[in-house]
Amino acid sequence: MKQLLSKRIQEVPESFIRSILKVANQPDVISFAGGLPSAELFPIDALEKACAKVLKNNGKQALQYASSEGDDQLRRWIAGRYLSQQSLTISPNNILITNGSQQALDLLGKVLLDKGDSIVIERPGYLGAIQAFSLYQPTMHSVSINNQGMILSELEHVLTKHQPKLVYTVPNFQNPTGVSYSQQNREQLVTLVLGSKTLLIQDDPYGELRFSGQKKSNFMSLLPEQTILLGSFSKVITPSFRLGWVVAPDWLIKPLVIAKQAADLHTNYFSQRIIFQYLQDNSIDLHIEKISQFYASKKAAMMQSIKQYFPASVTVAESEGGMFLWLTLPVGVSAMALFDQAIKQKVAFVPGKPFYIGDDEVDNTLRLSYVTMDEVAINKGIKVLADCINQILANTKRG
Ligand SMILES: Cc1ncc(COP(=O)(O)O)c(C=O)c1O
Repeated sequence: MKQLLSKRIQEVPESFIRSILKVANQPDVISFAGGLPSAELFPIDALEKACAKVLKNNGKQALQYASSEGDDQLRRWIAGRYLSQQSLTISPNNILITNGSQQALDLLGKVLLDKGDSIVIERPGYLGAIQAFSLYQPTMHSVSINNQGMILSELEHVLTKHQPKLVYTVPNFQNPTGVSYSQQNREQLVTLVLGSKTLLIQDDPYGELRFSGQKKSNFMSLLPEQTILLGSFSKVITPSFRLGWVVAPDWLIKPLVIAKQAADLHTNYFSQRIIFQYLQDNSIDLHIEKISQFYASKKAAMMQSIKQYFPASVTVAESEGGMFLWLTLPVGVSAMALFDQAIKQKVAFVPGKPFYIGDDEVDNTLRLSYVTMDEVAINKGIKVLADCINQILANTKRG
């Protein structure tokens, strides 16, 4: 019966990370694998109060079907946040509330991509975007990133040769590498895209989780006509409400709303109302500050353990915030082999391979999330990884 499946779905890669998470989420595993926000900081009491208030004051409305665009008050709040945090003037009419920013990726694929259309994704890139776009069967061109951002010569080549419909970026504390595009890289990237028929997507779930360094320009301020923004409450309040959004120009927002109607009519209205109530009654700035400080100390703990235990030949990409560290092992040390060894000792992480498309030679990178485990577990887990690396290195030398 498998032949009944569409070609579309048969070509979509299974999320390797989701498969890993099944193992990694077992209680006795020290997991650096998932991109799970730290549950200790979920504002449970405040959400309980917000929930009760919504039910008491607006229960009838909050439990009813609602508009596909999303709650007006919440959209206005998001527009206000862009203004206060990034000096961006955005009309609430250009904001569509989605089921997490993940759904925004799917909707963008739906309304923009025909089979064979060219798109650009980062190399390495966010697996969820690769998976979401894959369903629409585009031709994906990956452009490498380093600690300054996209390699512009590679981007220019792809833009000239393939005129991609979109360039997908996570310029702040990228998933998987944790790196951010420099100001200069952003400005130069924009000059390459300006005036073309290419859209630039800035997916930004981690942007507010900055521990150090300076905030950089949002692509919307540099390239307003061609930029699409994605945002999310997942990493700053809670992921389970599945609340995200897309900011798109007038000509695109209407088709996105139609695609949204066809997909699910609207995003869970009850959770929109609860989040809005929460935002009214609490300081999101204080909460984000608390998360950032907590994550910064975990990152410092992980860096400290890496310094203490890992061979100097392992390098770590520079990161000023977010949730991830990106490591490069000495050439010849396979991250997949490391994973196999580490998981036997109940330590999990994500090997880099799935973040590269059609590119099998890159086997010595890996992603570590520092936010989920406490500092004792971080130290213990990193020590186990170091022992495994040293053992693989010793075996390689002997071999
Ligand atoms: C870069 C990036 N985009 C989008 C998402 C999806 O987030 P959500 O759908 O929870 O908003 C994630 C989740 O980890 C992510 O890392």
